[in-house]
Amino acid sequence: MVAVIRQNGATESVIGSSILGRSPHTKTESSSAAGASAPPPRVLVVLNGKGGVGKTTTAVNLAAIFADTQSVLLVDADPQGSATWWVSRSPNPVTFDITQTTDAAQLGKLKAVRQYSLIVVDTPPALDSQALAAVIPIADYILLPTPPAPMDLSALIRTIKAAVTPSGVAHRVLLTKVDSRSLAEAIEAQTTLSELAIPACQAIVRTYKAHERAALDGLPITHWRGANANEARNDYRRVAEEVQQDWRSR
Ligand SMILES: Nc1ncnc2c1ncn2[C@@H]1O[C@H](COP(=O)(O)OP(=O)(O)OP(=O)(O)O)[C@@H](O)[C@H]1O
Ligand SMILES: [Mg+2]
Repeated sequence: MVAVIRQNGATESVIGSSILGRSPHTKTESSSAAGASAPPPRVLVVLNGKGGVGKTTTAVNLAAIFADTQSVLLVDADPQGSATWWVSRSPNPVTFDITQTTDAAQLGKLKAVRQYSLIVVDTPPALDSQALAAVIPIADYILLPTPPAPMDLSALIRTIKAAVTPSGVAHRVLLTKVDSRSLAEAIEAQTTLSELAIPACQAIVRTYKAHERAALDGLPITHWRGANANEARNDYRRVAEEVQQDWRSR
């Protein structure tokens, strides 16, 4: 069983049988998404074997943006529990549900959790983790955040060749923590990826203190107010839009 923390703070289990068929808390699509006849959720996995590259920031912010239009479960599959820590600091209820599990057997069954139309999985910075081995095969889409620096990028390229391309799962690299003063580095990284036929998002996520502060305040960037909030929020909105375009064209 996996305990899901609801928007209202209630805790229920969803992987297992106890609440299968019940509605999630979300406002939209909940009635059609709930129940045994609902289609399986789309599973979006955020992955990079390296630490500190923006996986959790990407997972939390995309969960919040997608929750405006669909029912979203964020799965924190990282034993560090950063996404859970972030959401637990929220002064207000968040607009998506969250659960923490690193159990490979449970993660492998996420497609059966039909109360949600989208499940976003935040993963640990460990390529050999059983959690990753369990979620890659059931993923519908893998987003691979990385800073554009050559050392970060080359490590990610090796990971993609070893673990992502062979899986056949649709994916894109997302350049994160991009220094606005050296956008050329990001463009160079996109060119390198394109030459290797590795798909990358056109949208990039720039470095803003706003991202750190929003996490500290327990808020997705969409709900955070302060310096550069608009820029930081719009970067992730563009990412969400690009990912959705991919989903529409499949
Ligand atoms: N675009 C950004 N601008 C500024 N700071 C950022 C940005 N993205 C992430 N950060 C900060 O960088 C740090 C690492 O980000 P995050 O926790 O999302 O990475 P991660 O890949 O999930 O790390 P880990 O592998 O340890 O789980 C955090 O302090 C976060 O606030
Ligand atoms: Mg993380």
